[in-house]
Amino acid sequence: MKSVTAIYPGSFDPVTNGHLDLIQRGAKIFDRLVVAVLRNLEKQPLFKASERVDMLREVTKPWPNVEVDVFEGLLMDYARHKDAQVILRGIRAISDYEYELQMALMNRKLEPRIETVFMMPAEAFSYLSSRLVREIAQLGGSVKDLVPPVIEEHLRAKLGVKV
Ligand code: PNS
Repeated sequence: MKSVTAIYPGSFDPVTNGHLDLIQRGAKIFDRLVVAVLRNLEKQPLFKASERVDMLREVTKPWPNVEVDVFEGLLMDYARHKDAQVILRGIRAISDYEYELQMALMNRKLEPRIETVFMMPAEAFSYLSSRLVREIAQLGGSVKDLVPPVIEEHLRAKLGVKV
């Protein structure tokens, strides 16, 4: 029987409940889901790649077919190396579409054998992003319900503030 591996790539700085919603959906339909953390972000990340990986491993424990890894360089090179057939990406709103379409088509040009599959997170997460979580936490606001409790703790420890 054919087994399908999907890569869910991203910055995950930090992982949010929106990411977890997508991971849960992806884990249901793909045999193996690799959550792949981009090591070198253009902007200085809040969490180091190793910290982002550790946090993802903590919160994806409930899904045995989900693994967490780190990658650098071209996503399509990494996906080939992992023998993946699918790239999974989330689309929250129309505003995500243009960037995602451009990336998906460019990735298809680089590697036509790998398909990008888009899934929608629950509407409750349609306004949620790691960037806003970082901003709220840095300014002392509550990120409860936006990230898992353990990630709240990591944000608190990293920022030395009450979140
Ligand atoms: O969570 P993000 O920041 O939206 O994820 C963006 C990511 C990591 C998927 C994208 O930047 C990426 O794939 N980077 C790797 C470099 C690459 O392959 N670039 C060409 C994309 S067409």
